[in-house]
Amino acid sequence: MEIKITRTTSPKQKPDQKALGFGKYYTDHMFIMNYDEGEGWHDARIVPYGPFQLDPAAMVLHYAQEVFEGLKAYRRADGEIQLFRPEKNMARLNVSCDRLCIPKIDEEFAIKAIKALVDVDSDWVPTEEGTSLYIRPYIFAVDPQVGVHPAKHLIFAIILSPVGAYYPQGLAPVKIYVEQKYVRAVVGGTGYTKAGANYAISLKGQEEAAKEGYVQTLWLDGVERKYIEEVGAMNVFFKIDGEIVTPSLVGSILGGITRMSIVELLQSKGYKVSERRLSIDELCEAFKAGKLEEAWGTGTAAVISPIGELKYGDLVMPVNNGEIGEVSQMLYDTLTGIQWGKIEDTFGWTTKIK
Ligand code: PLP
Ligand code: COI
Repeated sequence: MEIKITRTTSPKQKPDQKALGFGKYYTDHMFIMNYDEGEGWHDARIVPYGPFQLDPAAMVLHYAQEVFEGLKAYRRADGEIQLFRPEKNMARLNVSCDRLCIPKIDEEFAIKAIKALVDVDSDWVPTEEGTSLYIRPYIFAVDPQVGVHPAKHLIFAIILSPVGAYYPQGLAPVKIYVEQKYVRAVVGGTGYTKAGANYAISLKGQEEAAKEGYVQTLWLDGVERKYIEEVGAMNVFFKIDGEIVTPSLVGSILGGITRMSIVELLQSKGYKVSERRLSIDELCEAFKAGKLEEAWGTGTAAVISPIGELKYGDLVMPVNNGEIGEVSQMLYDTLTGIQWGKIEDTFGWTTKIK
């Protein structure tokens, strides 16, 4: 399928690269293609960034039949632009599609579309230290139907946003609230997918945690409320008495591409990583015994975010004196070094856009 390109005649003014924040600015163009039953995916095009026209009955507005992905384009020191493991994101997008009864996309074609769009908006890929171009592919149902059934008409779109750090405090450790009242996912549900609805249901806990000064919530399993799952926008790792532990992907947790990469990176450096169930009680006991050495989150947006404090009920657990730990710092430096092309990519994780 060809991608038809229509360039904007009124490019926007670019934001100050030192004050990008996360998801505040969008580039000049977007990618769109349509799905219609009988025809499949068609009409791939890059057009000036602008609103969609949707029927008020469009199914996504009523039943949230929507999935998305998140990846980034990075500006290398030599000026070239590269993506980080885009094939993993597109494979995961199809996993999400399957769960939400959304027709699958051609993964290779979707990567071609991402590359073409980033190329058209290449002057939006920021150069400032710590910045990148966030890529948001998403698919949503547009049939004007208030009956509940899988859509026959959908839109696949990609938008781009130049970003800095996800958390306003940058690499400074974040404070995380262990959620006891609400749950995010159960096995058999959609926790392992990037369905927009997963995020809608997480807002309430996040809002309540924010009132207490915590930036995000750590979710426990939805059945026993005992086992640690993940944080709102990142997977979690703990270093307990020398062992690096991350919750195993039991079906209710998103299989992060950063998580996968960090496991591979740690193993390549000789660390032992345990992917296993970790209960909140075990974590609290480790803290009380002085054995909780480090904690950090991993995600495309969050990169490596050290966790400086956890709160579970009345127990406040400062981690590593609220400072970034040795392993977290090494992981941040190595991962971002590969992403920004400062360190040789011996894993073959990066792909230039052309
Ligand atoms: N968990 C959730 C709920 C997320 O939204 C994200 C972000 O995509 C992650 C984990 C980390 O996934 P990834 O490393 O693929 O960005
Ligand atoms: C990402 O890291 O790509 C995410 O999707 C996290 C968040 C912005 C939802």
